[in-house]
Amino acid sequence: MLASARTLMREKAHFVQQFMRNPRSIGSITPSSAALCRTMCAAARWDRSLRIAELGAGDGVLTRHILQHMSPQAQLEVFEISPQLVAALSQWRDHRMQVRACSAEHLSGEYDVIFSGLPLLSLPVSTRDAILRAAHDALGPRGVFIQFQYTSLTQPLLSRYFTWQRQRVLKNFPPAWVYRCTRHYAP
Ligand SMILES: C[S@@+](CC[C@H](N)C(=O)[O-])C[C@H]1O[C@@H](n2cnc3c(N)ncnc32)[C@H](O)[C@@H]1O
Repeated sequence: MLASARTLMREKAHFVQQFMRNPRSIGSITPSSAALCRTMCAAARWDRSLRIAELGAGDGVLTRHILQHMSPQAQLEVFEISPQLVAALSQWRDHRMQVRACSAEHLSGEYDVIFSGLPLLSLPVSTRDAILRAAHDALGPRGVFIQFQYTSLTQPLLSRYFTWQRQRVLKNFPPAWVYRCTRHYAP
């Protein structure tokens, strides 16, 4: 118990250090709260989600929640560009998870759910567009893309690719919106 509390503290300190080094790509000084992670996970249909991706896993706070919801047969691909955060995530021992040390622009294949904690607004425009296009193209027929953001400024951008509903999460610093996005023609 004490050891896992110590691990969590170490992960949080690590995340803050990464923010100091790369504020634009990390996007937030604190990892997502448990309330935000729960709201993100509640937006997925776990009984039919076997192929899952997470874009911008950071210290893995949302990743832990995703793994708890996943069935033993499900697979999770995690995309992260910070070498230090990749190194820490790669030490996790869960055969359902694979860490990809590359930009989420390289997402391909077909997924039932794609989670994203990427700071869309602070990414270069070309990167942001490439990621949203890749996420759109990689959604399976009933797939969902679940993205959180701190502002509603990205809504016009999301609307270019997806039909969405949003939910406010106040128990997070700063408060966030969770967007549940599907392709425009999804059933
Ligand atoms: C706001 S943090 C979110 C971390 C975590 N998911 C959470 O909810 O607390 C954003 C993460 O996205 C990563 N990131 C930024 N640009 C990326 C990209 N193009 N591809 C993959 N990861 C990226 C950053 O390194 C950072 O770890």
